[in-house]
Amino acid sequence: MSFHSSRGAFPNTRMRRLRVSAFSRALVREHQLSPSDFILPVFVLEGENQREAIPSMPGVERLSIDLLLAQARDAAGLGIPALALFPVVGGERKSLDASEAWRGDGLVQRAVATLKDALPDLGVITDVALDPYTTHGQDGIIDDSGYVLNDVTTEALVLQARSHAAAGADVVAPSDMMDGRIGAIRQALEADGHVNTLIMAYAAKYASSYYGPFRDAVGSSGNIKGGNKHSYQMDPGNSNEALHECALDLAEGADMIMVKPGMPYLDIVQRVKQELKAPTFAYQVSGEYAMHMAAFENGWLTRDAVMLESLLAFKRAGCDGILTYFALEAARALQ
Ligand code: PBG
Repeated sequence: MSFHSSRGAFPNTRMRRLRVSAFSRALVREHQLSPSDFILPVFVLEGENQREAIPSMPGVERLSIDLLLAQARDAAGLGIPALALFPVVGGERKSLDASEAWRGDGLVQRAVATLKDALPDLGVITDVALDPYTTHGQDGIIDDSGYVLNDVTTEALVLQARSHAAAGADVVAPSDMMDGRIGAIRQALEADGHVNTLIMAYAAKYASSYYGPFRDAVGSSGNIKGGNKHSYQMDPGNSNEALHECALDLAEGADMIMVKPGMPYLDIVQRVKQELKAPTFAYQVSGEYAMHMAAFENGWLTRDAVMLESLLAFKRAGCDGILTYFALEAARALQ
């Protein structure tokens, strides 16, 4: 039997022809990654020349503002358009009403001002939610039973968002999942004259167990009263609800919508993009980063190839951009 058969049926279509050479693979490739797809989440802490490792997120550190600035310079130099700022707040600054969240010279507000002063072209995205600032680790203000109060919390979030915009934030990103907060924040920003401050809404944010390492990073994991955020974050069993949430946030004035977590929810990203056609982002969250790092450090998966494949999947699903702790490394790998 010969391997080159001249008899019998030939396939009409040989899908493999275009796969043979690098040039033809490149010509027909539908999706590509670029450093401009990435948003780098960073953790900022008080002090000078301070860096702290986060054991459940190998390679990610909490940095004081001076060191954060150096990292931000690296990011900008690699072509990363923006970073997302998360504060690590000391216990002495946490309270029931979270009023530290909107202090004019608070940690986030100072970090924003410093970053915008030194690197005006790098986008700065701030997290609007109260969890770093509450003694109980919930994203909002609670009643005696521990229930997060929607409208009272929204008033606090408005104060927080206004203080971020006043400090110079380009984008405020409410990650709290209160109802009506996008509209309330948009109205307040307009009234303050911040008409071009962008809102990136964590619109479809699920009550996920993949956030554990992040809660370690910001120091809220030990104290989450009630142990979960099920009364405001979305049920992982739901898909239509994500479209409802995203449509509401857009109608209330969001410029960009986000799905979170990322990889386990790419079906949601695809539906949101296809049905709403708005700028769509997803967050490859701390738990996704931790899983990858665990496998890389054990030699079970090949680092750069798997990292880039995981990020390309977001583009294929329809993301315009990806929040990822791999942003620096991925941008370097793409150079
Ligand atoms: C809280 C917030 C969380 C994340 C971003 N903002 C955690 C939570 O909702 O408990 C998670 C990000 C990550 O896991 O990387 N407002």
